Amino acid sequence: MSSTEISRHQFPDHFTWGVATSSFQIEGAHNSDGKGPSIWDTFCAIEGKIADASNGHRACEHYTRWPEDVDLICQLGVKAYRFSMSWPRVQPDGQGAWNEAGFAFYDRVIHALTERGIELHLTLNHWDLPQALQDQGGWANRDLCEHFTRYASEVARRFGSRLASICTHNEPWVIAILGYEQGIFAPGIESRPQAMQAVHHLLLSHGMALQAMRSLGCTTPMGIVLNLSPIYPASDDPKDVAKARLDDGLILRWYMDPLYRGEYPQDVWAHLGTDAPVVLPGDLDTIAQHHDFLGVNYYTRNFSSSGNPWDVASTGNQVTDMGWEVYPQGLTELLCRLHTDYQPERLWVTENGAAFKDDLVAGVVNDSARLAYIRDHIAATHAALVQGVPVGAYFAWSLLDNFEWASGYAKRFGLVHVDFETQKRTLKNSALWYQQFLRETSRGSD
Ligand code: FCB
Repeated sequence: MSSTEISRHQFPDHFTWGVATSSFQIEGAHNSDGKGPSIWDTFCAIEGKIADASNGHRACEHYTRWPEDVDLICQLGVKAYRFSMSWPRVQPDGQGAWNEAGFAFYDRVIHALTERGIELHLTLNHWDLPQALQDQGGWANRDLCEHFTRYASEVARRFGSRLASICTHNEPWVIAILGYEQGIFAPGIESRPQAMQAVHHLLLSHGMALQAMRSLGCTTPMGIVLNLSPIYPASDDPKDVAKARLDDGLILRWYMDPLYRGEYPQDVWAHLGTDAPVVLPGDLDTIAQHHDFLGVNYYTRNFSSSGNPWDVASTGNQVTDMGWEVYPQGLTELLCRLHTDYQPERLWVTENGAAFKDDLVAGVVNDSARLAYIRDHIAATHAALVQGVPVGAYFAWSLLDNFEWASGYAKRFGLVHVDFETQKRTLKNSALWYQQFLRETSRGSD
């Protein structure tokens, strides 16, 4: 393990430090106060889909325990909180009536954090789509773009001026590819054409939502969050090199090119053949709106092989409990590449963190591996900054141990340990390190 030294004062004063969560992963209260079912409620009920057969019914009980979680956020000393709104909590069917009790919950959380000086970064869609919209075909149905735009406009109208940023979608690749092509995430469909159509509608609805929110006069910074990684060929065999280029197209350029250049990459389009989406005239202009920020979620790098599956152990690097290689340099490289190829106005690291097995012993979680992971990725962010990349924020994933999607509660990403029986929260050593890092008040202190 490296022992990178990094100080907060190597970053500009206005750099934003935060922690992140998402609604389905922490809120629980799956059917309280008029909330409608989301696709993740439905998916969790299918046998065999979630590793520990769990669901989001309780999760971290954040819906009722939020005052304690607000205290934790403040205790960490971060400046910012990235969270998401559950669409079915505020509009149970995804169209039609608003659920005032749902909006009132977010109003309370936003109010409490604002009072305590924390800025709020809201994501509109962190995967928990109203099931009623899935019943109409989900993101593969173009009508969802209109429904999403109305939802975004309503949120901007009610909360826009109280938010530091609005993100439309979290990780469209994961929604579409894991959800509609591989079927391992909600809604559990296995169809490449539907997946590619879903990607297009996610990007289109992003552009439409930005236009609509801005036309209301909302000046809050707006953008999207992508899961991105550098992709290397597993060997210098030309077949592996070609595969890595294609995978980079499918995972990175298929999103970045339309958002920042108004076009889909031709090589990927040709590769998709009849699986390519239906794109109507004008769609790409709508997608290529001005983005105030690009959010990057980075966890690891990837390798592509044209033959045998690539084995993570071959890197010799540490691997997390998710089986993901620890590779901080990949974050520097990714941020530099995005800056060179696309020049986003502002880049934010909107998620970064690691799952490791934790032991809570006498009130202490000595999670040295997570602590090192966070510290070294902060240093990797700094390395991009000194190379001139306009990276302006870092959000650790996650505030709390939570419902890690298809992995259930077995994978713990929190800076704060949660005992899911008693709901007791305990700051892990990684949280104490982050707190100390953020507390450094004078230049030269360590
Ligand atoms: C990201 C998700 C987030 C969390 C982390 C580990 O893909 O955005 O909700 O599950 O992975």
